[in-house]
Amino acid sequence: MRKFQDKVVLITGGSGGIGSTAGKLFAEEGAKVMLVDIDGQTLKETVKEIGEEKASYVVADVSKEDQVKNYVEKTIEKYGKIDVFFNNAGVEGKVKPLDEYPMDEFHKVIDVNVKGAYYGLRYVFPHMKKNGGSIMITSSVAGISGTPNVLPYVTSKHAVNGMMKSAALEGAPYKIRVNTINPSPVDNRMMRSLEEGFAPGQGTNAKEGFEKMIPLGRYATNEEVAKLALFLAGPDSEFITGTINPIDGGMTA
Ligand SMILES: NC(=O)c1ccc[n+]([C@@H]2O[C@H](COP(=O)([O-])OP(=O)(O)OC[C@H]3O[C@@H](n4cnc5c(N)ncnc54)[C@H](O)[C@@H]3O)[C@@H](O)[C@H]2O)c1
Repeated sequence: MRKFQDKVVLITGGSGGIGSTAGKLFAEEGAKVMLVDIDGQTLKETVKEIGEEKASYVVADVSKEDQVKNYVEKTIEKYGKIDVFFNNAGVEGKVKPLDEYPMDEFHKVIDVNVKGAYYGLRYVFPHMKKNGGSIMITSSVAGISGTPNVLPYVTSKHAVNGMMKSAALEGAPYKIRVNTINPSPVDNRMMRSLEEGFAPGQGTNAKEGFEKMIPLGRYATNEEVAKLALFLAGPDSEFITGTINPIDGGMTA
């Protein structure tokens, strides 16, 4: 039997590199997948690729509480339960010194990465309390150490580590496990944006600089991060909760 046969998996950031890849892998393992993102066009294409009998989508802005409530309700209406919640949507913000950082951008990063993750927990928890489940919040190596000029992002990713620990303790009596996934740079859109932010017009140089900070000498792939999500979601990690999980080629060692 496949590992996620008859399981319902809810994924935010489902149009993005990590979220869409996780959606495909969960579906291959038998899950029914609900993808959520603000980018409806890519969501639609991803669901088509996975197969409409295995996946559905809801367009939502995770920083808006009513839209979060709605995507959780739509998932219950469609599939009747939530076994796994990959609380993964995020934005990187801009690259700017802290005393020049645009305030609207600061608020946006906190609204999406912190409040969005919390709203997700808030509305998924009541459903998961019935049968237990597993929640992964995508944090980052930026949730473990600092990086200059991306203060809001670093702040937001440290915040979700704490959020995860409280949620893990509150969830344990209900057999709800909660963990974070903490990737180093991943080879996808978000890093192209950050490379351009750190070295405008010289993204390749920025990438080489980041790679030098990673002992294994390269970025992670979307698939490597998605596979960690499947591990933390599934039966092979049943005694793991409340943990921070770097997937970083040794970067934080
Ligand atoms: N790419 C990296 O190097 C890296 C490293 C560490 C952690 N992360 C984290 O991984 C997670 C997934 O990012 P990714 O690497 O797949 O990048 P990505 O940019 O490809 O995916 C992020 C997704 O989140 C969606 N999103 C953004 N704001 C949203 C909102 N308000 N409501 C709903 N959806 C929204 C985007 O549309 C996008 O599809 C993020 O939380 C990110 O911070 C990424």
